[in-house]
Amino acid sequence: MTPVGSIRVGDQEHVASQYAATEPLRGRMSVWGPGPQGLDPTKVLLDALIERSPRRILEIGCGTGAFAKRVVDAIPNVNYLATDASAAMVAAASALGLNAEIRTAQATGQAAGSIDAVIAAWMLYHVPSLDAALGEIRRVLRPEGALFAVTNGELHLATLFADAGVDPPLSSFTSETGQAILHRHFGLVARTDIRTTATFQDHSSAAAYLGTIDPSWAAALPAFEGVRQDYGYTTVFIATEPHPTGR
Ligand SMILES: C[S@@+](CC[C@H](N)C(=O)[O-])C[C@H]1O[C@@H](n2cnc3c(N)ncnc32)[C@H](O)[C@@H]1O
Repeated sequence: MTPVGSIRVGDQEHVASQYAATEPLRGRMSVWGPGPQGLDPTKVLLDALIERSPRRILEIGCGTGAFAKRVVDAIPNVNYLATDASAAMVAAASALGLNAEIRTAQATGQAAGSIDAVIAAWMLYHVPSLDAALGEIRRVLRPEGALFAVTNGELHLATLFADAGVDPPLSSFTSETGQAILHRHFGLVARTDIRTTATFQDHSSAAAYLGTIDPSWAAALPAFEGVRQDYGYTTVFIATEPHPTGR
């Protein structure tokens, strides 16, 4: 049963308010570092992209454009289109002055079979009609193209949520469910599971992080002294090949 008051990361009103400005996302991104394996999910993603040397890339939900910048710097002459539903994110990504096209968009809307790689990093859980979106992604990809999707697991920040006494946000696309969902549209789905670490320098930074998810959560975390670390669980999926039944 869904706990009363749970946050759904796909709730569109919540999504719009979370990303109406860039600062909350920038603040959240700043606490993350590699876990014991020494792996950073965005580095794993970047290396996998470079290995495939795509010529035309579509990134959906590009946020501040930080990852787009790394790709454009790493793959010379790449044709890069980055989109985001939030006007503030599109403005921030555009301000980076990248050699890329950056647009406000919810759907991909590209010609069939025109894209070598689609990147959807920490965003598919926000999409209201996931199967429709994945069908559209499969349509715009070339048959040998790949979707690179990143998401978090159900234990992501579990210790922080437990200490704050809040239910972890409910997500439709997680490390645990993502592979089966992607297999509804793709023939092959590879995965890399990565432990990450969130470092909060003090109580106010941990409380502020919680407050970016729900303002009422900022007051929920009991006081603590010094630095605090919590575990993150993230998966990089690489989905390739059309589904054998042509769905
Ligand atoms: C957690 S942030 C991730 C941003 C970026 N991919 C990153 O890794 O830093 C999610 C982003 O997805 C965007 N977003 C949410 N729903 C979307 C949708 N349906 N279509 C396009 N972008 C969306 C948000 O505006 C936000 O910038």
